[in-house]
Amino acid sequence: MAASIGKHPCRLLWRTILSNGIRKTLVQRGLSSCQLFIEECGDPNEVLKNASIEIASPLASREVLVKMMMSPINPSDINMIEGTYFVQPPLPAVMGNEGVGKIAGVGKDVRGLSEGDWIIPADTAWGTWRNYKVALEEDVIKIPNDIPLLSAATLSVNPCTAYRMLKDYVDLKSGDVVIQNGANSGVGINVIQLAKEWNFKTVNIVRDRPDFERLKKYLMSLGADYVVTEEFVRKPEMKKLMKDLGSKPKLAFNGVGGNSATELIRYLGQGGVMVTYGGMSRRPVMAPTGALIFKEIKLCGYWNTQWNHRHADDLLRFEMLADLCSLIKKGKLSPPPCEFYALEEYKGAIRQATEGFKGGKMVFQME
Ligand SMILES: NC(=O)c1ccc[n+]([C@@H]2O[C@H](COP(=O)([O-])OP(=O)(O)OC[C@H]3O[C@@H](n4cnc5c(N)ncnc54)[C@H](OP(=O)(O)O)[C@@H]3O)[C@@H](O)[C@H]2O)c1
Repeated sequence: MAASIGKHPCRLLWRTILSNGIRKTLVQRGLSSCQLFIEECGDPNEVLKNASIEIASPLASREVLVKMMMSPINPSDINMIEGTYFVQPPLPAVMGNEGVGKIAGVGKDVRGLSEGDWIIPADTAWGTWRNYKVALEEDVIKIPNDIPLLSAATLSVNPCTAYRMLKDYVDLKSGDVVIQNGANSGVGINVIQLAKEWNFKTVNIVRDRPDFERLKKYLMSLGADYVVTEEFVRKPEMKKLMKDLGSKPKLAFNGVGGNSATELIRYLGQGGVMVTYGGMSRRPVMAPTGALIFKEIKLCGYWNTQWNHRHADDLLRFEMLADLCSLIKKGKLSPPPCEFYALEEYKGAIRQATEGFKGGKMVFQME
């Protein structure tokens, strides 16, 4: 039985108004929440602001009080702040699309959630960079609270993207080959681990860097079969590597665009599929004409937000989350390396997140 808000230990006097996604307090005593918001789009180092507000309202019958625990900074967050993301919330708005929170109070008609449950946002633009949020029960998804906090905080975007891209485009068989660029990204790391679990081979391309051997060792330790640099891909040795593989890749994942995407297309086998999910180089995808005509290569795109909209209440979505959590519990799926910041340290976190070769994800830790 869910605990009622009247029994919440804070015994708060709550009264708020909701103003374009930002709660402004009307009363004297309440729960203090720091939140990172924008009033206009622009350079993330300039337009993101911090406000401390009080949540001071009784919960409506179907509402829950969420105490955010951890939330990453993803490229889509940066794009949303810049105003270049495909969906934009009405402004002003609290930023942050992904994260994990704990239920700290429930309205009287909430049936599926109790205090202490862990939740993730059900949709994009939820505003996870804050301490507390009052949300509707249907705007959150309950997840197991016995997985590592960081895995929970980074569950709903990259692992789901990797999972769907491996399952939905090509009917891969054991031993089939997948090739990807941006292999050290959050998505790439999840692709490597899921492919290993499902017995697919991976050829992983990363940008060249002074500590490439260290990165290669790390990706191999996760289950990568081959790790090569963008420069290597253009050398004759790459052709030999592909020959040694025995069969050509049936599936390619492109999170970079530009020349890097063109190289992926070149190495796909007859009738292969390239799924574009990101464009980190901010360059368009270019396909050699012959690859489309003679090799019958197919190009398509995946967007996790769209998939979630189409499958909002489908069993398929909950099965996927259960599958991913089970792999996390077995130690077979781990998040990328992360650096932790308090919400108040957002300027440094954002600066770091907008740089290349950052070596991992910046993550806000609220408690
Ligand atoms: N379509 C979807 O549903 C979906 C879902 C999740 C993510 N995404 C997209 O996928 C991409 C990766 O996201 P993520 O969360 O996995 O990223 P992430 O963990 O933050 O990693 C960023 C990746 O991008 C690479 N990168 C950065 N700047 C680059 C540049 N100028 N040229 C080439 N590579 C560059 C980084 O490599 P270095 O180490 O070399 O800097 C790293 O591999 C983003 O574009 C994101 O928006 C899309």
